[in-house]
Amino acid sequence: MADFRRGYPQAVIDSLMEAFELTEDDTVVDLGCGTGQLALPIAERVRAVVGVDPEPDMLLRARRAASERGTTNVSWMIGADTDLPALRALLGDRTVSAVTIGQALHWMNHDEVFRALVPLVRPGGGVAVVANGTPLWLQDTAWSRALRDCLERWWGHRLTHACGTDDDTVTTLIGRIRAESAR
Ligand SMILES: C[S@@+](CC[C@H](N)C(=O)[O-])C[C@H]1O[C@@H](n2cnc3c(N)ncnc32)[C@H](O)[C@@H]1O
Repeated sequence: MADFRRGYPQAVIDSLMEAFELTEDDTVVDLGCGTGQLALPIAERVRAVVGVDPEPDMLLRARRAASERGTTNVSWMIGADTDLPALRALLGDRTVSAVTIGQALHWMNHDEVFRALVPLVRPGGGVAVVANGTPLWLQDTAWSRALRDCLERWWGHRLTHACGTDDDTVTTLIGRIRAESAR
């Protein structure tokens, strides 16, 4: 799958570094890390990254990619959003400088995930929900339209979801994160 997905532009990594004032002393959790497309470039700029994903095959590919890049500061953990209490017990409160969720939030329980994440994060840090532009199935190209037709026939309804890149979803998420942080 990683072979067919865009990685993240360097500007995304720069924005995360700047927004959370990340340095080489910081630890970042990448929840739903997949094959490490976000975790690996972040790892180059911080002390350590914990990549968490429920799919062993994803983690296998992530480990392979890390090894090919010579990256040695990522811990790959099998787990899901529901395992955040265990991660909190392991790392301790306010020990994590940023939690990133790259195109994976749609798999998680939105009501619980921010509640579980906020205590982990140090002051000045934060949770970043990262999307990567218009998803392949909504783009205006022949290939994308063919994919959309096929998926819509499969699901039996029109496809409009954009994995969190649309304005409504972004506004809702910002509201949830702010509400949890203010508790
Ligand atoms: C579209 S991929 C994104 C992977 C990676 N973050 C990236 O940006 O390249 C979504 C990932 O979310 C993971 N995932 C699915 N359910 C999850 C859950 N409940 N908690 C955490 N991750 C989950 C999937 O296994 C998959 O690797």
